[in-house]
Amino acid sequence: MSGHIYLSSPKMHGDEQIFIKEAFDTNWVAPLGKNVDEFERTIADYVGCAHAAALASGTAALHLAVKLAGVRPGDVVFCSDLTFAATVNPVTYEGGVQVFIESERETWNMDPAALERAFEKYPQCRCVICANLYGTPAKLDEIAEICAAHGAVFIEDAAESLGATFRGVKTGRFGKYNALSFNGNKIITTSGGGMLLSDDEAAIKKARFWATQSRDPFPWYEHTELGYNYRMSNIVAGIGRGQALHIDEHVAAKKKIYMRYKEELAGLPVSMNPYLEYSEPNFWLSCLLIDRGCSVTPEDIRLALQAADIESRPIWKPMHMQPIYKDRDFIGAGDSVGEDVFARGLCLPSDINMSEGDQARAIEVIKTCFKR
Ligand SMILES: Cc1ncc(COP(=O)(O)O)c(C=O)c1O
Repeated sequence: MSGHIYLSSPKMHGDEQIFIKEAFDTNWVAPLGKNVDEFERTIADYVGCAHAAALASGTAALHLAVKLAGVRPGDVVFCSDLTFAATVNPVTYEGGVQVFIESERETWNMDPAALERAFEKYPQCRCVICANLYGTPAKLDEIAEICAAHGAVFIEDAAESLGATFRGVKTGRFGKYNALSFNGNKIITTSGGGMLLSDDEAAIKKARFWATQSRDPFPWYEHTELGYNYRMSNIVAGIGRGQALHIDEHVAAKKKIYMRYKEELAGLPVSMNPYLEYSEPNFWLSCLLIDRGCSVTPEDIRLALQAADIESRPIWKPMHMQPIYKDRDFIGAGDSVGEDVFARGLCLPSDINMSEGDQARAIEVIKTCFKR
């Protein structure tokens, strides 16, 4: 009951070892093999996308998506503002210029109204990257429609939202290109890894080509294009195959954690990270938002939890507030949602290895902060 409580740590089940052993037994210790093929098939089927390429990271998947979208030096790309930097950094890898789009209140994700305004200001934009923050689906139908109306490629960053659904459809298939992450803290993990999903078979083949050093079909090494070493190893994919058996179980465990916080914190001047009634998040991270005017700050809670050996984390700092992107444009909606959520919010321990007693301990610390 008194050990360290993590924000979100890996949960292994033993199945992973079976597939890793198979890779060892067959000596497929390489960036290709049966585990890679099967993991790609399993995740593509689960999400409902036709094709997938298993990669070294979610960031690699986003980079290849940006390349497939044809982003060239100087091109404007509209990006989520309230997200992790990996959503937007790949634009810079290709020399593109991010324009950050404000969030809305109902999901904390890209505001379709602000996106519309961005197209008025930059009608030349041909690519939009939208993340589903903390596993909560954005207004994906509206965003996809706006992109289509303006002839822009929609890239869905579903790194945090595997298993979430929007109007009954899994996230990770709303974009022309979609990225997943299997980083150590995600809903399922391969220790590190990612996947690019698309219904466009030729695009996924091209991504695999780029990801394996762009080797032209010659007996010797011949290259007409710049290549990358971005493929997932067959060992790592073995972990993924084992983990994939447990996606829904992990989502259910995350939901239970979220619902318990919601119930137990109901009497405090706080609310939980919101979602649309017609979407079902994967509840990857439970977050609280302190009511306006309350003297308790997220940092008070974070430090109190830290003193009790419990990990929590500030809300991701919006991209338009990041020093590296200080010269980029930001399309607001009149209500600074990202800045406000960053100021009043906190990511709570959402670890599925956490026992009910552990969560009770975290809840008690939070409650104590409001008694002072
Ligand atoms: C929203 C988002 N996009 C992209 C990534 C990048 O994924 P990876 O760490 O696998 O490169 C992450 C997580 O790390 C993320 O949270």
